[in-house]
Amino acid sequence: MEKVLEDPRWPEKWPFRPENFLRYDESPDTYFYSQPRFVTHIDDQAIKALTKFYGAVFPPSGGQSTAVLDICSSWVSHYPEGYKAGRVAGLGMNEEELARNPQLTEFAVKDLNVDPTLPYGDNTFDVITNCVSVDYLNKPLEIFKEMHRVLKPGGTAYMSFSNRCFPTKAISLWTATGDADHIWIVGSYFHYSVPGGFTEPKCKDITPKALFGRTDPMYAVFASKQA
Ligand SMILES: C[S@@+](CC[C@H](N)C(=O)[O-])C[C@H]1O[C@@H](n2cnc3c(N)ncnc32)[C@H](O)[C@@H]1O
Repeated sequence: MEKVLEDPRWPEKWPFRPENFLRYDESPDTYFYSQPRFVTHIDDQAIKALTKFYGAVFPPSGGQSTAVLDICSSWVSHYPEGYKAGRVAGLGMNEEELARNPQLTEFAVKDLNVDPTLPYGDNTFDVITNCVSVDYLNKPLEIFKEMHRVLKPGGTAYMSFSNRCFPTKAISLWTATGDADHIWIVGSYFHYSVPGGFTEPKCKDITPKALFGRTDPMYAVFASKQA
């Protein structure tokens, strides 16, 4: 899977069309997300693998000048237990979920499919995360451009995902394609949103190696704002 972004052969122009970003359920997202869901969307092993990955790539815990943003956040961010930063902002759709997230120091409720601007200043965050939710964003280039604006130079955005989703709310491009395609698609968001603005996106396959049975696959696609 990691090889997908080793030689992505980006076409000159972003190859997707507006209809690729339609969802089966085009009613306002506020309806779908009005009820809190205090559940996890991937299995425990996949969560553990993501937390371990975050632990390896995040700035050290406790830095007062460190700022982290979790977009499409909920009541859990899967950050290492006790992880602390001067600012840990969460943005999502459900206030009750966000209010219960113990890792956040602040939160904002906002529908990014209505208005893809991020309510934060330029060059603010060292890290941006988005767990199992990039597939719900129907204006990805605008949002990735915004992520670029709010990242500090050298800051990194980590998009992690599995093969599970709310299918009626995911973009049709996602539901019509598989894991390797998803890696290329998310890589393309970085590549085309701000030409030359991000480092070339990379993929890390963090799928847990289960001794018995199967676990949810887990991939992180990430790139940094050019310093
Ligand atoms: C599958 S849940 C994942 C939640 C969390 N990131 C996690 O790992 O458990 C999808 C999340 O995407 C957020 N989301 C979906 N559509 C959104 C939109 N249009 N604008 C902002 N957030 C959105 C929802 O608030 C929800 O928390």
